[in-house]
Amino acid sequence: MSNKKTAVHLDNIVALCKRRGFVYQSADIYGGLNGVYDFGHLGVLLKNNIRELWKESVTQTDHGQVLFLEGALLGPRSVWEASGHVDCFHDPMVDCQNCKSRYRADHINLEKACPKCGQKKWTAIKQFNMMFKTELGAAVETASDAYLRPETAQAIFTNFKNIMATNRVKIPFGIAQIGKAFRNEINPRQFLFRMREFEQMEIEWFCKQENSDMFFDFWQESRLNFFKQLGITPEKLRLRAHDKDELAHYSTKCSDVEYEFPFGWQEVEGIAHRGNYDLSQHTKHSGKDLGVFDEQTKESYIPDVVECSVGVDRLFLTVLFDAYQEDVIDNEQRTVLKFSPAIAPIKAAILPLTKKQLEQAEKIFKNLKKTNSDITFDVSGSIGKRYRRQDEIGTPLCFTYDFDSDNDHMVTVRDRDTTKQERIAIDKVAAYMQNKLKA
Ligand code: GAP
Repeated sequence: MSNKKTAVHLDNIVALCKRRGFVYQSADIYGGLNGVYDFGHLGVLLKNNIRELWKESVTQTDHGQVLFLEGALLGPRSVWEASGHVDCFHDPMVDCQNCKSRYRADHINLEKACPKCGQKKWTAIKQFNMMFKTELGAAVETASDAYLRPETAQAIFTNFKNIMATNRVKIPFGIAQIGKAFRNEINPRQFLFRMREFEQMEIEWFCKQENSDMFFDFWQESRLNFFKQLGITPEKLRLRAHDKDELAHYSTKCSDVEYEFPFGWQEVEGIAHRGNYDLSQHTKHSGKDLGVFDEQTKESYIPDVVECSVGVDRLFLTVLFDAYQEDVIDNEQRTVLKFSPAIAPIKAAILPLTKKQLEQAEKIFKNLKKTNSDITFDVSGSIGKRYRRQDEIGTPLCFTYDFDSDNDHMVTVRDRDTTKQERIAIDKVAAYMQNKLKA
């Protein structure tokens, strides 16, 4: 077997996702909706695993409690005015006057000609607000403006007092949320990397100002470790501090966890020191005091916030890039997703060698399904083809019921990464699988 890691192209990933039903272009039969995707069965399983591991990782801090929230997707204009998104959530946009193509001005070289038509006839740069605006109510005259949220965070800030009062938590503590966010990206690109509808996993950590730098360092390290725990190649990960001119309007400092994609080092997660910007802004705009009473000093203060924000879809793309390999086994090329077992959408496949072994193999499948629901049963095609199919979706283990199994009560287990095979007793299959999945 040749184990050389081949250069992965985005096209390989897109094709595999479509072929195996991880991701589909949304409204495909109508020509697709740019920057919007639907997730198929395997995509849903993979996303769920990512979400679960994220939840585990953010709640495992000894520094304080972490509570969950599921905020609404729609927010009134007042929220987004207070947060600064109405005034500041812009991207610079430029059009080609010749072919009318539209670009993000900071993503292309304006000294050069338009990549599409080859002419150099740029408009002046305009600022484009990326929020999706809508109107609430039936009649246009009485409708009020609302926006689809461009980040999940604001619902955490606007509910800060509700959450503190109903859960009786003390600073420091965190509020975590997983949910959709929407941005009218000028140029959605690189598949799941830059989308118009995507999902974020965010935690806002509330603390006293004097501890905020310590917590900023703590979260940077903790978040980088999370990516390593997902099995992502450590050499392809780094933390990069933002320069002052890169900072978002709300943050005083920020570091990104970046991954080395074939299209360069790119942000996957941002860790931002938001100071007390958001709670102060909402206090000012709503007229409601979002301060916290300090029992020691007997004074009220507005806590600082350290935020960790990662896109589920961007992380999904990252794990796909990192797991994707092409190698050659027995002179045959295969594509394999070397997912860590914890995120693999399907953990094991049960394969009867021929239809004669169907009944016995099904018994093993049903038993195993009691211990883990993410297992599959496959009878169609040659055994080689079935192995390739499982390799391509990243299934760590295949158990084959073969011609000897009736006599020796054993099955052949094949390891996805090494392709090595060994015989194990049928009554040890569940324990074997549990053990391997822990590794
Ligand atoms: N609340 C802070 C915030 O939203 P951000 O850096 O704009 O910060 C955080 O976004 C994360 O959300 C990014 O690191 C990325 O993983 C994901 N993300 C942002 N825009 C995205 C898009 N258009 N498509 C997919 N993921 C996106």
